[in-house]
Amino acid sequence: MSKISKQHYDTIILGAGAAGLMCAGFAQAKGGTVLVIDHAKRAGDKIRISGGGRCNFTNIYAGPNNFISANKHFAKSALARYTQWDFIELVAKHRIAYHEKTLGQLFCDGKATQIIDMLLAEAGTAEITLETTLDDISKTDSKFSLILSGKAVTADNIVVATGGKSIPKMGATGIGYQIAKQFDVPVTDIRAGLVPLTFGPHDLEWITPLAGTALDGRLTANDTAFDEALLFTHRGISGPAVLQVSNYWHEGDEVQVNLMPSTSIFDALRGERQSNGRRQMGTALATLFPKKLAVTLAEKLQLTGNLADQSDKALQELADKLHRFTLKPTGSEGYRTAEVTLGGVDTDALSSKTMQSKSVKGLYFIGEVVDVTGWLGGYNFQWAWSSAAACGRAI
Ligand code: FDA
Repeated sequence: MSKISKQHYDTIILGAGAAGLMCAGFAQAKGGTVLVIDHAKRAGDKIRISGGGRCNFTNIYAGPNNFISANKHFAKSALARYTQWDFIELVAKHRIAYHEKTLGQLFCDGKATQIIDMLLAEAGTAEITLETTLDDISKTDSKFSLILSGKAVTADNIVVATGGKSIPKMGATGIGYQIAKQFDVPVTDIRAGLVPLTFGPHDLEWITPLAGTALDGRLTANDTAFDEALLFTHRGISGPAVLQVSNYWHEGDEVQVNLMPSTSIFDALRGERQSNGRRQMGTALATLFPKKLAVTLAEKLQLTGNLADQSDKALQELADKLHRFTLKPTGSEGYRTAEVTLGGVDTDALSSKTMQSKSVKGLYFIGEVVDVTGWLGGYNFQWAWSSAAACGRAI
């Protein structure tokens, strides 16, 4: 990686993560001088660990509806002008083998570092300097002045690609929000997203013994539902379905769990009653759910007797409860484990075509720092690629 070789750059990109590296490729292709700085030891550290080390780099179904933002229209333009198919083409050009795992999620066959190497190769003539701190940033009428690890440099354009606050251990600082505020660019409320949910002592009493138990369910928070795996943990609930609804859950909200979304529990129990009427209720539920969960449900719902003792009405009531099981999380695991940060730089203050601030010429925000957050499943990287392309092409 290079040192800072010049005193002036056309563009300085803050953050050598997914969005920053991608933007560097586009910006340098237009012939300008580009510097990318990062305080980390390595570029693209989140890419490296993403998708269990194989990077879920996009989703073939990615579209505006998979993103959360105060302005649901904002992401449309960038997503349409640099799509998942554009990124897939780039991956193919670099001969990176990939596969669809599930639900349109594309992963590398090999290591996630292939994506980092690809972005570094695409960054071409851009200088990338690591272990470099942003000590100061200010703007005169015509350009930005920065102090980077003690060295004074200037730039015509600044691209803030410093990501969100998720996983501080990996170098997330939230500095992008501070830069926005310094330049009077509004920032919405932010909170941890794609994150496990936690419970108070009363619920943990029955949840903790279930730690490690998983099942496919439908989780709903604030009218948005996801059919994926739910996992009980020592501190609450996790798994893909939980991470997905965490984006829609706010403190004080309930989460509805349909414990068997694709089958009628009433029909299943009624059939079981016909063939095995003498089965105890806990045992009957164990034909539908993991055993530990079946026992817990039988206890919680105070089910007594055997199947033959249950009227159709009683079975229907039980089935309804299991299709609409209600949980009330007390919080989330927070930024420590969250995959993303919800909220960010207010999209009303940015051009959706270029990501440039409407009030500060030459100041751009891309990637996770912007108030656009994707679902789990490759959507957040797609936003990083698309917003970076919009900005890099415009600079
Ligand atoms: P990103 O966080 O990638 O980059 C920001 C860069 O800025 C970092 O390199 C950081 O060091 C640097 N920086 C921060 N503060 C700085 C400062 N003060 N000075 C200098 N540099 C600074 N998404 C997805 O689509 N598919 C997936 O498989 C996964 N998997 C995944 C796993 C895990 C564990 C996490 C935490 C997250 C994911 N994600 C994901 C989400 C995805 O990683 C995330 O949305 C993108 O990396 C965001 O890209 P950005 O470039 O905006 O930020």
